[in-house]
Amino acid sequence: MLKCEQICFNYGTTAVITDVSFELPRGEFAALLGENGAGKSTLARLCSGLLRPSSGKVTAAGRDTRAVKPSLLARQVGYLFQNPDRQLCQNTVREEILFGLDYALASYAPGSGLSKGELENEKKRRCDEMLDLFGLDGNRAPFGLSRGERQQCALASVLARRPQILILDEPTTGLDYRECVTIMDIISRLHREGATILMITHDMEVAADFACRALILSGGRLIGDGKVKDVMKDRELLSRASLLPSQICSLALTLGPGFEDVFSVEDMVRAAEVRS
Ligand SMILES: Nc1ncnc2c1ncn2[C@@H]1O[C@H](COP(=O)(O)OP(=O)(O)OP(=O)(O)O)[C@@H](O)[C@H]1O
Ligand SMILES: [Mg+2]
Repeated sequence: MLKCEQICFNYGTTAVITDVSFELPRGEFAALLGENGAGKSTLARLCSGLLRPSSGKVTAAGRDTRAVKPSLLARQVGYLFQNPDRQLCQNTVREEILFGLDYALASYAPGSGLSKGELENEKKRRCDEMLDLFGLDGNRAPFGLSRGERQQCALASVLARRPQILILDEPTTGLDYRECVTIMDIISRLHREGATILMITHDMEVAADFACRALILSGGRLIGDGKVKDVMKDRELLSRASLLPSQICSLALTLGPGFEDVFSVEDMVRAAEVRS
């Protein structure tokens, strides 16, 4: 569904991504973790087709990103920018959501068999669905919204296109707890419904709670790729990317024998009961 084969990328003469290979099958939920400046956002742009590799190949939803226009790829690959303000460009939340849909639906209109009126109805239906899902007021100006609401508006505009692959660059950074729960509930529902997700995060608790797999990027190289449960317990690997395990895994590692399988609060309670 999303495949990187030995990709390299340079900004000018500076190598930012070096020899990165991985494959996410359909329905995978992977967290992309790494230190500041590791190249995570660059890798996200390469996977979404906004950047093309200097060498190697990225295949997203069956398409070689070098051979397809980013606006066409955006129908299948949704990309949430690290900074939502770089994504928002319309006067109202409703226009923002419709703007993304214009591109997505226009590109398949000729072969879709839908009339212009039916297309307009479909756009309105999808837009209303997103406004309901996020509880957003369509008449408000995106730049008058809080940071969390702007993030939700940017995500609503991406999701309205119903992409099969979602690339999310720090979707919860800067959000309060309630906003974080709202966004992660929506993302995990999409995952249950079959979306393939690559999510960059600095929040190890979010990675541990939601992702199945973890990719560790450091200095532009992929230094780890495995089940999130295994990666979270590998202090040495994590420290090479300046990361710490989630709090519960950290506690389990400190407690040692009898707590090897602890990954969540529920696991911790069970392990403690067994020992008491
Ligand atoms: N447009 C650009 N031109 C030149 N260098 C860039 C550009 N964008 C990023 N870089 C450099 O590429 C490297 C990787 O940046 P990138 O934003 O991909 O890292 P990141 O892992 O997403 O970091 P963060 O965790 O801070 O978001 C950094 O050294 C950064 O300074
Ligand atoms: Mg980044």
